[in-house]
Amino acid sequence: MTKKNLLALLESNRGRNISGEFIAGQLNVSRTAVWKAVKELEKDGYTIKAATKRGYCLSDENDILSAQGIFPFLYDADRKIIVEQSLDSTNITAKQMAISNAEHGTVVIADHQTAGKGRYGRSFFSPKGHGIYMSFILLPSQIWLEVPTLITAFTAVAVCEAIIEVCEKHPQIKWVNDLFLDGKKICGISTEAVTDYENGAINWIVVGIGVNFTMPQDMPEELKEIVGAVFTNNEKNSVTRNRLAAAIINKMTALNAESEQINKDFLKKYRERLMFLGEEITVTGTGKEYQATAIDIDDIGRLIVRNENGEIHSLFSGEVRVKMHGK
Ligand code: BTN
Repeated sequence: MTKKNLLALLESNRGRNISGEFIAGQLNVSRTAVWKAVKELEKDGYTIKAATKRGYCLSDENDILSAQGIFPFLYDADRKIIVEQSLDSTNITAKQMAISNAEHGTVVIADHQTAGKGRYGRSFFSPKGHGIYMSFILLPSQIWLEVPTLITAFTAVAVCEAIIEVCEKHPQIKWVNDLFLDGKKICGISTEAVTDYENGAINWIVVGIGVNFTMPQDMPEELKEIVGAVFTNNEKNSVTRNRLAAAIINKMTALNAESEQINKDFLKKYRERLMFLGEEITVTGTGKEYQATAIDIDDIGRLIVRNENGEIHSLFSGEVRVKMHGK
């Protein structure tokens, strides 16, 4: 317990020195217990600078995901957050927790996923130390959006805004659920429903977000061309994953029922960030592949396209890829 409390104290004083005496007083433990807890945190990978008289300081380069590191940036101090070093998939854990009646708004976060899930049964590469893999457990009666596509679209806007605010990067949205930066995918979102088998009612919604924060060295060859990250490896940044995770959680709070009036026009923001509007694209995944022009997004999140015969199609799902001119 001392270790967790110490981490909370250090995280909320990040970059500042706090004396052993002060810490011991705050946590109501001996200074030896503080020293032991510091050693345990160091074993977990934290860099803690210690200096006689000045005390301990959690230095800025630490980037380990933890609830204690997220809380100082959260607007909602009562939010339930579970952070694990490794899970098979945060969506799987979130669904299990939903069935066991987790609280609305609970967030499950992992530093690493051994079986991260993408859409269409694909896997989602989730290496340790480089991403933020998180799932929100939402009670349908507590949020103001019902259509799953719109929840995904809302989430895409929320993550974009969090990245702009905290990382000063400006991602674009590839309909329906991917964020792109400099032509590469930096985030995927998948929304799943937990339904009642007997009456088909949606009891819970789980929104999974996978953000590639920095690039791992061991990126599989087949992903190198398409997968990017918020920060490239040469970039110096002082933003931590905890800071960005907190910003995403803060933005997602706007899904709560009482925020409807303020956030109703999120589709306008979605359109502003959307890739390919007015451009020629190839529509795949709807059976027959065809060329079309992307025109708009309608109010239930469908992509409106015009095919080469001038016919208008509204696409609910299906994948869109840009037609590469000259290829
Ligand atoms: C996609 O790009 O197809 C969607 C990817 C969604 C990945 C996230 S990572 C957190 C959550 N847990 C999972 O297993 N998947 C989602």
